[in-house]
Amino acid sequence: MHYGDERPEALKFDPFKAIIAPRPIGWIGTRNADGVPNLAPYSFFAGLGATPNMIGFSSEGAKHSFTNARDRGEFTISLATEALADAMNISSGSVPDGANEFKLAGLTLGEPVEISTPFVAESPAAMECITVSATQLSDKDGNPINRFFVIGQVVHTHIRDEYIRDGRFDTASARPIARMGYRDYATVTEAWELMRPDDAKAV
Ligand SMILES: Cc1cc2nc3c(=O)[nH]c(=O)nc-3n(C[C@H](O)[C@H](O)[C@H](O)COP(=O)(O)O)c2cc1C
Repeated sequence: MHYGDERPEALKFDPFKAIIAPRPIGWIGTRNADGVPNLAPYSFFAGLGATPNMIGFSSEGAKHSFTNARDRGEFTISLATEALADAMNISSGSVPDGANEFKLAGLTLGEPVEISTPFVAESPAAMECITVSATQLSDKDGNPINRFFVIGQVVHTHIRDEYIRDGRFDTASARPIARMGYRDYATVTEAWELMRPDDAKAV
């Protein structure tokens, strides 16, 4: 099977998100214009590069996380895990500006060090970011589309001590969750190692 703009009838649902999977979930913390905390999950989310550590997320429509990150110049990301899945899901509800999803989801405000936006204190790891750009995307013909992209630079990282083992962040023990297609999620439960051809020794 293959297709372009017209999806065959056999594919009742668009498989795009099920193919680009699993996608890590950026649990984005911001503050609105009045300073009220805002929290929402974004799986059109990625690390864009390291040193400096850069992060990006995409908003389908100019949602609160986008406008807040653009207007206040900062945001946080917290790692969404299996233990926090219900809270993450609650924080995705469509609520009016100023609703404070940290409170709605029963989460504790983590105290930032470099910026003024809280993160999820219960999360194994979180990052404080300064917004570098917040732009509207265009399609292949150069026409603006109702999609918005935020790029941020990490300025501070928080890790709960119990997830640090042998000098590394133990990702599998944090059991991060990732988004797939439809309403499906995946959980990272184990890690396996593959050395690169140029590796002289384990890093
Ligand atoms: C796991 C998950 C991932 C999501 N990823 C995105 C995304 O990448 N982009 C987006 O626009 N909405 C995404 N959503 C929906 C938003 O979380 C939802 O619209 C939320 O209300 C936005 O909140 P905000 O307006 O406070 O930013 C996702 C929802 C869930 C549950």
